[in-house]
Amino acid sequence: MEKIIVGNFKMNLTSIQERDHYFELFSKEISGTGKDSAEIILCPPFVHLEAFNKWRKKNIKLGAQNMFSEKSGSFTGEISPLMLKSSGCEYVILGHSERRRFFCENDGEINLKVISALKQDLYPILCVGETKIQRENEETSSIIGNQVERALSKVSRNKLENIVIAYEPVWSVGSDIIPTSNEIMEVKLLIKKTLFNMFGKKYAEKVRIIYGGSVNSKNIRQVCVDPGIDGVLVGRESLNPHEFLRVADLISK
Ligand code: PGA
Repeated sequence: MEKIIVGNFKMNLTSIQERDHYFELFSKEISGTGKDSAEIILCPPFVHLEAFNKWRKKNIKLGAQNMFSEKSGSFTGEISPLMLKSSGCEYVILGHSERRRFFCENDGEINLKVISALKQDLYPILCVGETKIQRENEETSSIIGNQVERALSKVSRNKLENIVIAYEPVWSVGSDIIPTSNEIMEVKLLIKKTLFNMFGKKYAEKVRIIYGGSVNSKNIRQVCVDPGIDGVLVGRESLNPHEFLRVADLISK
């Protein structure tokens, strides 16, 4: 299966000038990368989606960083899955640890968003992960098991091939501290086991599992290649097209 690399720009590219500069750099860099590069999914802030959609070439896919579960209506400030679709998105990141932490998103809300995204044929990239304290207290398996179970509750197993789960240890996001390959492998198995129990082996195997947290070209072997993960979610380094595309190249080797 082709590996995937997701760029999560977070709340960056704060002006049209910055965005256009990013386009310039990215276009220059991508012309030098091999054609066997991974599936590239860029997730800019909502306001840039249309411009990214016009600019992107066919081999670059578009995702959003969040959405609301309702299709339309009186929900001031929210973004609907239909809006994402019509802006060219195929993917949507859901349940990122920053949304759980700063915007108090809980598993129930994330579950509604997952179901709604699937209904509109958007591919959810569901983020799960434990905090530093939870890991120290040996709660990693119960926390992640619960996050997966709750977020995917009532999801039809026929939709599982459209789901990506990103293991993002909260202590690794933005910190430059990364887990060992073994730690990532353990969590990958735990997620698979949870999915087996919920949906049965045949269907559970269709879910792609990726890693996120301080990914760069120097640690890509440790966080993706060695643990046999299906791809990566890249935060800060996605703003640097040279580094981002280097990671894309290395994971497909
Ligand atoms: P980081 O962010 O690569 O900057 O650690 C990853 C993420 O939040 O998805």
